[in-house]
Amino acid sequence: MWGKTVILSHRGISANYPENTMLAFRKSYEAGMDGIELDVQFTKDRELVVVHDELLDRTVNATGYVKDFTLKELKTMDAGVFKGEEFKGEQIPTLDEVLEYFQGKEKIINIELKTGVFSYFGIEEKVIECIKKYQLEDYVYITSFNHLSIARFQGLTKKIESGILIYDTQFDIQKYAKTYNQDIVNPSIEYFDLCRETFLSMISKGKKITIYTEDKPEKIRELISLGINVITNIEITS
Ligand code: G3P
Ligand code: CA
Repeated sequence: MWGKTVILSHRGISANYPENTMLAFRKSYEAGMDGIELDVQFTKDRELVVVHDELLDRTVNATGYVKDFTLKELKTMDAGVFKGEEFKGEQIPTLDEVLEYFQGKEKIINIELKTGVFSYFGIEEKVIECIKKYQLEDYVYITSFNHLSIARFQGLTKKIESGILIYDTQFDIQKYAKTYNQDIVNPSIEYFDLCRETFLSMISKGKKITIYTEDKPEKIRELISLGINVITNIEITS
């Protein structure tokens, strides 16, 4: 997983298709991208669903929190039409559906645990179970802005890699990653640019730096030349 720089489709090919849907993930695979990034949450009945916002309102034709609906209820909702009438009928996928699609395809999958607003207690175990079910341990890595959730994940398994998402510059990330023994650090492109020397030093010490999100070809080429491990983007990159 950690050879050359890989480019992952952020929420699938989300520039042209409804984010975090099977359509956006299939389009990524068909375009020959290296893999995908996706966001996972719990339903009311503790099923794993792939959706970014805690509130349904922006991307789904419903109002309220994901966590307050059962999977059966969520499956009756439309997750495509917000992007355009032609996408009507797309559903919120389960993590099972996405991993089943990618089983055996040798694509990299970054699962983000959306445990920053609601902690979704027990989600880490369920995600591990699902990854194992499709024998994708060597192709998946986990991230989260909730570093306690990552610590919990790391306490449960050593067989699936994981790391921390960060978006601000208010602490010494190099020291933090060292103190908490984090090998994968996932900053925004803005954070990376602000603290470039720090991140380059981390790369030289063997840390894996993964960046969200960058689409400009010249910038992607530069990040590749700097040895960035993963870049997530929203368009098709050749
Ligand atoms: O790849 C990391 C990135 O997805 C984190 O931000 O809000 O797009 O989930 P967000
Ligand atoms: Ca994400």
